Amino acid sequence: MAWFRRRRAVVVDDPREHRFFLFGGRRHLQSATYPLPKDMAEVNRLDFQHYLLRTGFRGNYASPLQNPTSILDVGSGSGRWGMEMAALFPLAQVTGVDLVPPAVDEATTLGHGLTARPANYSFTQGNVLERLPFPDRSFDFVHQRLLITAIPSARWPDVIQELTRVTKPGGWIELAECGVPQDGGPGLTGLWNTWIALCAKRGVDFTMGHTLGDLLRHGGLGNVTQHHLLFPMGAWGGHIGVMSATDCMAVAQALRAGVIAANIASEQQYDHLMALAKDEFARPKGKGVLPFYLAYGQRQQA
Ligand SMILES: C[S@@+](CC[C@H](N)C(=O)[O-])C[C@H]1O[C@@H](n2cnc3c(N)ncnc32)[C@H](O)[C@@H]1O
Repeated sequence: MAWFRRRRAVVVDDPREHRFFLFGGRRHLQSATYPLPKDMAEVNRLDFQHYLLRTGFRGNYASPLQNPTSILDVGSGSGRWGMEMAALFPLAQVTGVDLVPPAVDEATTLGHGLTARPANYSFTQGNVLERLPFPDRSFDFVHQRLLITAIPSARWPDVIQELTRVTKPGGWIELAECGVPQDGGPGLTGLWNTWIALCAKRGVDFTMGHTLGDLLRHGGLGNVTQHHLLFPMGAWGGHIGVMSATDCMAVAQALRAGVIAANIASEQQYDHLMALAKDEFARPKGKGVLPFYLAYGQRQQA
């Protein structure tokens, strides 16, 4: 993690004994490819992004599910997707798996408020780049969304194989990732290029979202279907456009320290790109769009 080491980072202990460090004023996971922070502000961003995606895709899944009884969410983040699926399928056991539990306060996780965790949702710690802590053929539906920055290009086939291993024959795997913005101005395009460069330094291809269907096909899944949706970015796109621009600016802030530490852009250059993007997003006649790809496939019966 050379791009982190250049800055003096403060290592902090988590009560649950995971190793984090403070970098750019945000808490990050140590020893992970994943570059985004792991703190309460990021939990809030992931929830916000979840509502954006659910609205855009008009629901939480696209696979032709038939009364699933076991659902796995890989890289579960805040757990919001899994908790909503648990409410939608009360007879299913929904499991979220991630490197660490979400950074939520105990009241939200365990309390009795509106956001209390449904009884049929649980969290398990695991790493999709290693062996997931579940037996073969455990789940009717395996979902993985927005792990693009966490999976080195060379490891995608292994990841598909691991997702397939834990899926029951006849069960479905669904993947969703973003693409690269189209028709954006120099601010949006410039920022995105710094993130592509940051990911490339760690063997990650931040432009591979459009290949999800092919990855499933090559992994031996059947009945593979891929959809994509173009999310408007900016005021010209109405409510969804403002939401996606807001999310993009939050990502820009979250990756700022990493890009600068990796010498991809200076502080001044990065802040200039952020100011340009903010201005582009405010224009009533912008036209930048962000493609989102969603692909699903079925594990063969054999
Ligand atoms: C961008 S967030 C997406 C969260 C959630 N899937 C969503 O759509 O809201 C990526 C999540 O993947 C997790 N992650 C990163 N690397 C992982 C790995 N190797 N195994 C499991 N989870 C991982 C991160 O901790 C983070 O919570």
